[in-house]
Amino acid sequence: MRMFVEKSKLEMSKKAAQIIIEEVKRNPSITLGLATGSTPIETYQRLIEDHQQNQTTYKNVKSFNLDEYVGISRQDQNSYYSFMRKHLFNFIDIEEGNTNIPNGMTTDKEEECNRYENFIKQNGGIDLQILGIGQNGHIGFNEPHTSFESRTHIVDLTESTRIANSRYFQSLEDVPKQAITMGIQTIMEAKQILLLISGEKKAQALHELLHGEIREEVPATILRNHPNLTIIADEDAMVVLGKSGVGLG
Ligand code: F6R
Repeated sequence: MRMFVEKSKLEMSKKAAQIIIEEVKRNPSITLGLATGSTPIETYQRLIEDHQQNQTTYKNVKSFNLDEYVGISRQDQNSYYSFMRKHLFNFIDIEEGNTNIPNGMTTDKEEECNRYENFIKQNGGIDLQILGIGQNGHIGFNEPHTSFESRTHIVDLTESTRIANSRYFQSLEDVPKQAITMGIQTIMEAKQILLLISGEKKAQALHELLHGEIREEVPATILRNHPNLTIIADEDAMVVLGKSGVGLG
C-alpha cells in the first residue's frame, strides 16, 4: 500500500489525475474502473484539462463503471450514465462503445449482473480501479455486511446511503432503493486500485480502513489485502488519524 496525504481536495485530485494520466500513457489501451459521486469530479476535470492541453488520448481506453441505480433511465440526469458523460466522457476522446455502465433499466437484473461481470472478464479485467468510499465504509454500492466474495450484484441501498445521495434528487423518496454494483471480489481483482478520500465525514472510514479489523461490516477494510493499493487522502479526511498518524512507515 502507498498513501499520499494532500493539503486539499484540489491537491488530492491533481495527484490522482497525475497517476491516472501516467498509467494511460504507459498503457494506451488500459481498462479503467470508474467511480461516480462528488469525490472524483475534480480528478475528472484535471483529466479533461490534460486531454485538451497535452492531447493525452483515450481512443483505445476501455472503462467499466462501478455501479448504476436501478430503475433510472440513462437519460435521467441522476443516472450514473449521465454523470459520466457530464463530468468526463463528453470532453475526452473515449469511444462511447468502449465505456460500460450497468444497465439499471434491465428487465432481468440477475442476467445483467452476470453479463457485466463476464464482460469485465472477457476484456481481461480492470487494470486501474478508481474508488471513492462511503461514510459507512462502502465501496461501489457494497454496503456493510456484503460478502467479500461478492461479484456484480443487486443491492438494497441503506438508508444512510440514500440520505447521503439525496442531495442530488428532489426528495429522499426519489432516490432509488436499489442499485447494480460490481462486487467486492470484482473490485479486488482489479490489478491496481486508486482510492480517493476527501473530507471530515470520511475520516472515520479512513481510520477503519487503515487500522480496523478486516471485516465485512466495513467493506473498505478488505482493500488492505490488495497487492497494489494507492490511497490519496486530503487533510480533512485525516482528522481522526492526525496528520502523521497514518502509521504505515
Ligand atoms: C460511486 C460509488 C460510491 C461512492 C461513495 C462516495 O460510483 O461507487 O461508492 O464512491 O458513495 O461518494 P461521494 O464521493 O459522493 O462522497
